[in-house]
Amino acid sequence: MSGLFITFEGGDGSGKSTQAGLLAEWLTEQGRTVVRTREPGGTDVGVEVRNLVLHHRGDIDPRAEALLYAADRAHHVATLVRPALERDEVVIQDRYFDSSVAYQGAGRVLDAKEVRDLSLWATDSLLPDVTVLLDLDENLARTRLDAADKPFDRLENEKAEFHGRVRAGFLALAEAEPERFLVLDATRPIDELAAAIRARVEAELS
Ligand code: TYD
Repeated sequence: MSGLFITFEGGDGSGKSTQAGLLAEWLTEQGRTVVRTREPGGTDVGVEVRNLVLHHRGDIDPRAEALLYAADRAHHVATLVRPALERDEVVIQDRYFDSSVAYQGAGRVLDAKEVRDLSLWATDSLLPDVTVLLDLDENLARTRLDAADKPFDRLENEKAEFHGRVRAGFLALAEAEPERFLVLDATRPIDELAAAIRARVEAELS
């Protein structure tokens, strides 16, 4: 496979979508074909899973929740991500299996390795070339989300303590795979973050 697979991770409100969008614009200017996508919800099946998993009223059993994200991921990778990479395109994606490990593993009660293995099975072991982690203190993230004045989904509604565990989960993943992860302080100015991300991706392309 000769395309490039770039994922953005971080807590809710860390600015992933803004940075993913800026990177997509820049790569397009460089003449690359870019597929911008996200999980959950990158396909028609995924949109239905997203609706269920984010907006279902009431609790979802943690194992069922992990399987729903994994089902979305399996369909997304098989029908959209892999075909794009095989066409030599760049896939820029908001969230991937690191989100499952951090949210369903560290944030909830499931074993992180089991959650990771489930996603690897779902995707036939497709790993990103680069994962950008926008790291943000959970209390600052909450202030940003409050300021955005959008209704919260099920996970955003979780307490700061949950988001603290998610953040620690992401940082542990980055520490375990330093060659894949680029960890950035999400409080830095947008253009500085964009430049750091471009530099990393440029190195990957050359
Ligand atoms: P996201 O699309 O980033 O939310 P928004 O559009 O509101 O910024 O992510 C939706 C939520 O799903 C987010 O709270 C994290 C959660 N999530 C998991 O818990 N596990 C996963 O595997 C993924 C992909 C997302």
